[in-house]
Amino acid sequence: MIEQTMKSDETQPKRTLNRRSILKGAGALLVVAGAGGVWRAWDRGVFSASEGPAFAPWRDWRTASGSPGETIVRAGILAASAHNTQPWIFRIETNRIILFADTSRHLGTFDPYLREMHISLGCALENMVLAARANGFATDVAMSTGHLTDGYDGAQPVAMLQLTDADTDRSPFYDAIPDRHTNRGPYDRPRGVPADAATNLTRIAQSNGVLVVLFEDGPERGTFDSAMNDATATIVADRQMVHDSHAWFRMTPDEIDTHRDGPIIDSFGLPPAVNVLAKMFPIGEQEGHEIWKETTRDVHLATAPMTGIIAVRDRYAIADNLAAGRAWQRMHLWGTTQGLAMHPMNQPIEIVDRDRQLGRPASMADRLSKLTGDDWQATFSFRLGYAERIAHPSPRRDPADVIRNA
Ligand SMILES: Cc1cc2nc3c(=O)[nH]c(=O)nc-3n(C[C@H](O)[C@H](O)[C@H](O)COP(=O)(O)O)c2cc1C
Repeated sequence: MIEQTMKSDETQPKRTLNRRSILKGAGALLVVAGAGGVWRAWDRGVFSASEGPAFAPWRDWRTASGSPGETIVRAGILAASAHNTQPWIFRIETNRIILFADTSRHLGTFDPYLREMHISLGCALENMVLAARANGFATDVAMSTGHLTDGYDGAQPVAMLQLTDADTDRSPFYDAIPDRHTNRGPYDRPRGVPADAATNLTRIAQSNGVLVVLFEDGPERGTFDSAMNDATATIVADRQMVHDSHAWFRMTPDEIDTHRDGPIIDSFGLPPAVNVLAKMFPIGEQEGHEIWKETTRDVHLATAPMTGIIAVRDRYAIADNLAAGRAWQRMHLWGTTQGLAMHPMNQPIEIVDRDRQLGRPASMADRLSKLTGDDWQATFSFRLGYAERIAHPSPRRDPADVIRNA
């Protein structure tokens, strides 16, 4: 549906990030520093993580002046979004906020039906509901009944948050909003997850009308892991998907300050020395995704004590994906209150979409339905556990850029 011009990466040098190259790189780092590379390191943001205006929304979300509607939106923009695309526009009216999909902020072949875009909008909606209640409003949410195969253009209204005066209801999930960050580093698999994790995640799913299926060990976890690895390999072999994904990456402080969106190196969950090297010597889109494939297998899956799928009745219904997003945001906030790390890993469902777009057999969809049952359709997958490294905040655009006052 939304194809972009493919860019050749054949000029990129080939490197693989194995243990030997990490050690060699750490040595090179000392040489570079000694040879006057300090300027380059400074210029590439080696000494500054989470600094500057792109990170201000995390700090001032509660204190910045503005109308109650603006206060609620400030919480909304701190939500998760696919590739940190922040695909939202908010219209603040008297006693209500209308949430629009900004369909220009799409991921191309990575999200051809804007399914992940609508999950992202659901994440924002959940933060807004929590913030509205914490600021003395009862909420009523109306969601679009539309279907994602309908096709889109421009800004599309997807949900309406009706506000009425009420007693303040401040949830611990609301307080966790600025501490929730996607954690892509290694987890402590032997430590497992809290005994009540499955109960809490299931309760959150049920209250949103979606299904969560969780995997620890055993054959179903094996099926999940092999679907994830195969889907990742399929993506990495698809030049257009790699290109559309890479288009959102922001690798330098200048790119971060200019765009205030997208995944950044500090959010990759790399070991500190490798993080420095990645900032100083950026790699090409194909090579970066090859490393991601290895990291998916050797770090993300290998160290995760628990993985899961969120499934809905209709993968291409707008309301179902908004509900899945609300559920994910709430699950991640719950995890944050427990000191747990969480990480969406959506490759299998991205391949379901890509198979459909290209008219290929629905083999990944069939594999996932063996895990969810035929009555449910996977729309989101993730992992959780106790992290070995902290996760950094990702940039956010200025609320003023996404608010349209009535
Ligand atoms: C619908 C959706 C899909 C996502 N898919 C992935 C994914 O496949 N891999 C990944 O590392 N992060 C994924 N994320 C996490 C986003 O990249 C992340 O939310 C975004 O970069 C903002 O960072 P934050 O969550 O730390 O605020 C996804 C998030 C959403 C809402």
